[in-house]
Amino acid sequence: MPDPIFDDPRLAAIYDLFDGPRGDLDNYLHIARELRARTVLDVGCGTGSFALRLASLKVVVTGVDPAAASLNVARAKPGASQVTWLHADATTLPPMRIELAVMTGNVAQVFLTDAAWHDALTGLRHALVLGGHLVFETRNLEHRAWEKWASDPMIESIDIDGVGLVTQRRVVTDVALPFVSFRHTYTFPDGTEIPSDSTLRFRDPDEIAASLDAARFTLVERRDAPDRPGAEHVYIAQRDSAS
Ligand SMILES: C[S@@+](CC[C@H](N)C(=O)[O-])C[C@H]1O[C@@H](n2cnc3c(N)ncnc32)[C@H](O)[C@@H]1O
Repeated sequence: MPDPIFDDPRLAAIYDLFDGPRGDLDNYLHIARELRARTVLDVGCGTGSFALRLASLKVVVTGVDPAAASLNVARAKPGASQVTWLHADATTLPPMRIELAVMTGNVAQVFLTDAAWHDALTGLRHALVLGGHLVFETRNLEHRAWEKWASDPMIESIDIDGVGLVTQRRVVTDVALPFVSFRHTYTFPDGTEIPSDSTLRFRDPDEIAASLDAARFTLVERRDAPDRPGAEHVYIAQRDSAS
């Protein structure tokens, strides 16, 4: 079940504004070009920020997300008709043969159990053509991002057209590694407060490598995210066998 921040219609509608500029996505456009991908599956596409940028470059894009509210935001954006939107997740995909599957925005960290992560990887492997690639990012465990989050409640207010002044606060609610939990609370002009609780799993590079191997992917490369060096790792894996 996706967190309210993605699946509550009032929160999904304002997600992009609080998320801010998405310079992080340039790297994925670059990788898609590098891999010469003509068909891309954006897994956990959320409000469609990456899928829409890619589709504008004439790539055939499918965006999939289990959060209906985020998909509705994506579907209402300019250019949305160029993308196929699916309300699903990696384990419930229809048959497809795509060249590149991508998880931007640390989607890989929402899979809390080994089984959920393995099932997602297996679903993506089946969606890929032979030789197809899977590219995803995950925060570097050693960077200990949660310590910065705990010291910075990230209180931000934005005056939103048609909504008014909305305030976002973030608090870390639990650190029980490899799990880190936090709560975003949004206060709307009518006084309504909507909380959204999230838990992410931090996996180290050895765990990621082993999980890719177990799902029969070949790990091609691990890179630093160019826009967040030291903080984020980008993994490039390949489906290189038919079985
Ligand atoms: C931080 S957002 C990133 C959204 C988008 N990739 C981006 O970069 O803007 C995480 C996304 O993962 C989605 N998500 C949650 N559980 C998921 C699952 N089991 N499979 C795929 N996506 C999932 C959420 O609904 C949300 O849209």
